[in-house]
Amino acid sequence: MQLLDGKLLSQKIQQQIADEIILRKNAGKKTPHLAAILVGDDGASQTYVNSKVKSCDKAGMESSLLKFESSISESELLNEVYKLNESKEVDGFIVQLPLPKHINAEKIVNAISPLKDIDGFHPVNVGNMVKNLPCFVSATPYGILLLLEEYKIQTEGKHCVVIGRSDIVGKPMSILMSRNAYPGNCTVTLAHSKTKNLSEICLQADILVAALGKPEFVKKEMVKSDAVVIDVGITRLNDASKKNGFRLVGDVDFENVAGKCSYITPVPGGVGPMTIAALMKNTMRAVEQSIK
Ligand SMILES: NC(=O)c1ccc[n+]([C@@H]2O[C@H](COP(=O)([O-])OP(=O)(O)OC[C@H]3O[C@@H](n4cnc5c(N)ncnc54)[C@H](OP(=O)(O)O)[C@@H]3O)[C@@H](O)[C@H]2O)c1
Repeated sequence: MQLLDGKLLSQKIQQQIADEIILRKNAGKKTPHLAAILVGDDGASQTYVNSKVKSCDKAGMESSLLKFESSISESELLNEVYKLNESKEVDGFIVQLPLPKHINAEKIVNAISPLKDIDGFHPVNVGNMVKNLPCFVSATPYGILLLLEEYKIQTEGKHCVVIGRSDIVGKPMSILMSRNAYPGNCTVTLAHSKTKNLSEICLQADILVAALGKPEFVKKEMVKSDAVVIDVGITRLNDASKKNGFRLVGDVDFENVAGKCSYITPVPGGVGPMTIAALMKNTMRAVEQSIK
């Protein structure tokens, strides 16, 4: 079994981006600028946004973190999105999800300019991704593609099973793996909570992507020998032995599954850091687009 080391690859990509930014600065070109909107005080969301912003700063990007109380109204939040759409400074931005219940997240996402939608959530970007046209690809699936590429994982003709059909992970992942491209050219099965015989389906997977948000759901008995296992899940479980009071657990029972795989992503240190690297790559693309 070999680990798909997302932490290491993410560091490598971030270093490449940092080098590129120095070249841009030396050439008098615009420094890429990422902005993030954070609503409310959800601990996990705060951690994710902070690490995205910190990584951008470290690479020499400009970054802005716009924090709002959870009482912000939908129309006030829409106004903030419009301001960022118009901003000459900001090249790309994200709105950290989930949003408070009184705000329609779809309405907010659809208000983001597709040219600044570095999370790749806007229908225009989703549509272009489906058609294999230039677009921002949703950062988590994009990060997984980068990882598969780095480790030269063969995907053509393989059976890829994706568990979870969310708009941000499972659905785009299934489409990307079925594209006539590398990584891709898989025969894809997209499973969800209504799927019957899930264990049997998973057992047929050459590449198994677990993105359902249920800690250690994927057991050894569900995994084919020598499969490639991608664990997207991140759940915080209370753990008094940890300084911060919790530990991060993936959707795969890593301890028992790892020995059976050819490759597997750890949690933490797998897909999570790759999401950040992919987001930064999208921001680099956004600054080029904004110049054009
Ligand atoms: N590493 C990263 O950077 C990153 C990024 C994003 C998300 N995540 C993590 O990835 C996980 C999934 O996130 P998400 O936003 O995609 O989740 P989500 O929106 O909650 O979607 C979960 C999906 O899993 C399916 N599902 C739930 N229980 C299932 C079961 N028992 N069997 C089969 N399918 C089941 C659901 O099916 P239905 O559609 O039928 O309800 C749904 O499609 C979470 O742990 C999240 O924290 C990690």
